Amino acid sequence: MTHVSVLAGGLCPERDVSIRSGRRVAEALRAAGYSVDVRDTDADLLALWEQDPPDVVVPLLHGAVGEDGSLRDIIETLGLPYVGAAPAGCRLAFDKPIAKASLQQAGAATPDWLALPHSAFRELGAQRIMTAAVARLGLPIVVKPTRGGSALGLTIVHSAEELPAAMVAGFAYCPTVLLEAFVSGVELAVSVIDTDEGPRALPAVELRSDSGIYDYQARYTAGMTEFFAPARVSHQAAGAAADLALAAHEALGLRDLSRTDMIIDADDSPVFLETNVAPGMTETSLMPQSIAAAGLSLSSVMSDVVERAVRRSR
Ligand SMILES: Nc1ncnc2c1ncn2[C@@H]1O[C@H](COP(=O)(O)OP(=O)(O)O)[C@@H](O)[C@H]1O
Ligand SMILES: [Mg+2]
Repeated sequence: MTHVSVLAGGLCPERDVSIRSGRRVAEALRAAGYSVDVRDTDADLLALWEQDPPDVVVPLLHGAVGEDGSLRDIIETLGLPYVGAAPAGCRLAFDKPIAKASLQQAGAATPDWLALPHSAFRELGAQRIMTAAVARLGLPIVVKPTRGGSALGLTIVHSAEELPAAMVAGFAYCPTVLLEAFVSGVELAVSVIDTDEGPRALPAVELRSDSGIYDYQARYTAGMTEFFAPARVSHQAAGAAADLALAAHEALGLRDLSRTDMIIDADDSPVFLETNVAPGMTETSLMPQSIAAAGLSLSSVMSDVVERAVRRSR
């Protein structure tokens, strides 16, 4: 029996989400016949894995350690096979400006942006930079940490006066913030899974939250967001959204599974926001919804990626 160790929890603001994802994935893998344990990150973890090495690790941690490649570097150093993108791909995806630049190089559209480190503010004077940023990007502007998640530290700025406070909120999470042009339209999340025939985009999930922004509250409060899977968009937009998610999976060098967040703009074309290497897997998460919309089960998708990881290790 293949022994799978699901890694969930961790010390990050999305700890609870990760734990719920872990429970769900563990159930799905047990149903597929795997022997599964669920582990959290703590001082005993590596010793435990050394004593009783699992055949495959399924990392479901969010936040920097979980998504920026560092944890996967450690798992790789221990010689353990794992599900998901390698460290290099995680690093490109987790840093939003780097991911946006990579996608632009690959010919994809992403909202105009600039990334501002805290130090530039101190050295060059905040006021002039902010005035120039508003002139370039227009209003509203979305301010978010360059490396973060769950919309924590994210603010939609509607007037120039709101920008300083929004930047301070972003700097609380990360030394560099991303200022991005606001795009109004239909928000979609498109999941990609690797198959023997190559990467496959699953049906897009459309999200409609009361506030129009898929923020922390909208994500984790029951009933605050409506989901439509498959999305209620034109055939052409759905095709372009699938192409964008596949382009992101490839341009960022990802593996096994990924989820790309995007907005279908006024021209009915998708613009890239970001790609997640450790998508949430809770009952209400976006990737499980797209798996269901594709007529697949979480058990079959997860056992496929576990088997891919086993094969890679041979
Ligand atoms: N440029 C933008 N225009 C409009 N809405 C945005 C924009 N950027 C982010 N959002 C909203 O904020 C949410 C979170 O942003 P995202 O870039 O996906 O970061 P993360 O999910 O890592 O916090 C999105 O799901 C979307 O609702
Ligand atoms: Mg997102």
